[in-house]
Amino acid sequence: MARGTTMTMSFSSLPQTLICIAFLFFSPPPVTAAQYDVVSLGAKADGKSDSSKAFLSAWSSACASSGPATINVPSGSFYIKSAAFVGPCKSSSITFKMGGTLVAPSDYSEIGSSENWIIFRHVSGLNVVGGVLDGQGSGLWECKASGKSCPKGATNLEFSNSENILVSGLSSVNSQMFHIVVNGCQNVKLQGVKVSASGTSPNTDGIHISQSQGVTVLNSKIGTGDDCVSIGPGASNLWIENVACGPGHGISIGSLGKDSQEDGVQNVTVTTATFTGTQNGVRIKSWAKPSTGFARNILFQHAVMNNVQNPIIINQNYCTDDDDCPHESSGVRISDVTYQDIHGTSATEVAVKFDCSSEYPCTGITMEDVKLTYGNRVAEASCENAGGTASGAVQPSSCL
Ligand SMILES: *[C@@H]1O[C@H](CO)[C@@H](O)[C@H](O)[C@H]1NC(C)=O
Repeated sequence: MARGTTMTMSFSSLPQTLICIAFLFFSPPPVTAAQYDVVSLGAKADGKSDSSKAFLSAWSSACASSGPATINVPSGSFYIKSAAFVGPCKSSSITFKMGGTLVAPSDYSEIGSSENWIIFRHVSGLNVVGGVLDGQGSGLWECKASGKSCPKGATNLEFSNSENILVSGLSSVNSQMFHIVVNGCQNVKLQGVKVSASGTSPNTDGIHISQSQGVTVLNSKIGTGDDCVSIGPGASNLWIENVACGPGHGISIGSLGKDSQEDGVQNVTVTTATFTGTQNGVRIKSWAKPSTGFARNILFQHAVMNNVQNPIIINQNYCTDDDDCPHESSGVRISDVTYQDIHGTSATEVAVKFDCSSEYPCTGITMEDVKLTYGNRVAEASCENAGGTASGAVQPSSCL
């Protein structure tokens, strides 16, 4: 309400006017956030001077603020060798306003053996807005492709043991390893995130979520060399909506059951996703050995497949290492998985594949309105130890 309009306001809106005026007088004054600018703290936007110290000093001040605090990163390119932003903080509302690009060392020997490039730990109440994280991972990918022995590589951005995190409009490019990891967290929302790396880059998962509850991924575009989104043990109450995936290995729950004692995954919704030229669409995978793990109460809904090799797949004989695969039956119990309104094209004849554990068959698989084609014909489905029901139009016809 503009104040100037009160004079000409009609009588009938008087009660509303009073409420407005009361609100003007009694709402608390806006709290202005303390501001910290990385450049005034010594960061250089030249893409080569190590600005880690300036970023860390902005963080310590913001973290120690008694009220909300904002860290400003202006446009330009800032070289960061590595940075751990650690709490707990006094401030429960820190905003990282990123106008520019953070650039990692291009020589993988610098951080390739540490797990992380940029990490937030033990933080509660963080808002990361905008920005580009450039992991410069291609040197490490080439090393891995050459068969030499190489370090495992660093994750571009991790949130660890933290809560109440909002990330919006961030881009992560060319990470050495995983792009964004959420581990041991509660109440995390990632929206408008972009991930991009070569379709042949190894282990460059887009967003990996494990040991966390209440994680939302919204309106994001992910193209990379491994899973677009991967969901590990101990993840529950996840909501993944409007993700475009490709290139990549799809949206995967797993791999599960690598450890004999392992937490399960439950209550995961993946809704409105598009997969283009990916290795998988929606996937659940587990290792073929005993484990306490499980995946239950999973909904895959409203997905479009464009030329996807395995649009719908459960693989309980998952193995990456050719020499060292276990050949037992998986202990991971998979139940109550629903596929609803999934259509499009498969790049292979078998568009629906349920390869479940012989010891713990999949139960409660539901298929509703699934239509997948291969070339000009209906694709095929294959079932191993899988039980459930199909309803609506389901093509290929169900083998449950
Ligand atoms: C399942 O997860 C959603 C968030 O995706 C949450 O709103 C809902 O409460 C959870 N359901 C249960 C039973 O925990």
